Amino acid sequence: MRHLMSPLDFSVGELNRLFDLANDMEKNRDKYAHICDGKKLATCFYEPSTRTRLSFEAAMMNLGGNVLGFSEASSSSASKGESVSDTIRVISCYADICAMRHPKEGAPMVAASRSLIPVINAGDGGHQHPTQTLTDLLTIRTLTGSLENFTIGLCGDLKFGRTVHSLIRALLRYKGIKFVFISPDELKIPDYIITELQEKEADFTEVTKLEDVIGNLDILYMTRVQRERFFNEEDYIRLKDFYVLTKEKLAMAKENMMVLHPLPRVNEISVEVDDDPRAAYFKQAQYGVYVRMALIATLLGFAPEVFDKED
Ligand code: NCD
Repeated sequence: MRHLMSPLDFSVGELNRLFDLANDMEKNRDKYAHICDGKKLATCFYEPSTRTRLSFEAAMMNLGGNVLGFSEASSSSASKGESVSDTIRVISCYADICAMRHPKEGAPMVAASRSLIPVINAGDGGHQHPTQTLTDLLTIRTLTGSLENFTIGLCGDLKFGRTVHSLIRALLRYKGIKFVFISPDELKIPDYIITELQEKEADFTEVTKLEDVIGNLDILYMTRVQRERFFNEEDYIRLKDFYVLTKEKLAMAKENMMVLHPLPRVNEISVEVDDDPRAAYFKQAQYGVYVRMALIATLLGFAPEVFDKED
């Protein structure tokens, strides 16, 4: 039995085959419409979510399966003091696979260690968000044809943004990636990730102004300032509108630069940008469904080709 806690839990070869499967699922919906008939996905969300939870549920329904779960800690027995370990032992009796989001870093790992069914980390605090990373990688691979040789700018809250942390780690395994980290001083990439980048001799720079670098980027990955992880509201208010991608700023970018955002957007991308052909964030949300379909099918053992090779 395999779980998904970090994007690195899958080898590069396994990810490639997972993405092939997701692309095939997009093209041939009927072929996969019943592969999970009779199976149940539990979505255990101790933190708010729209896309992640609903895309997991849509993914399972697209495969013919059913879903059950809760969307906030207050409607689960966590509010009575039940531990994650006990909850997952019980969920193991009701469902075949579980997607879990939790505000505490490491909580889904604790669950995985006690679980009798595959557990997917659907976001743990400011730590990791592996299925968003799978979504990001599938989007880039499908729209550009490759996961190598590009310059990616990650912009916004690089300190608390778990999607950024997961994506950097995943991209470190591909060739020719240049990272440009764009953030205010207070929201810079955590030191443990900088150390990892240095150890892997990655090509990276840290800057404050988006305008200074936007012209060099092939991909711009915008993120929201993570209000819920701030210690005080004043800092949030001071930093929340530090970056706003407008039409004027986009005019300085390459004609084929891709704009990604894990969503939800607050103010950091002006709505006028949505009609620009470079805006790919709603397509990205759609790819989130296909990659979660492929992941569920794989972890439930219905796509043995994803895991069957040694690499
Ligand atoms: C992200 C998250 O939850 O970390 N959202 C998502 O799952 N697409 C990004 C965010 O909340 O800013």
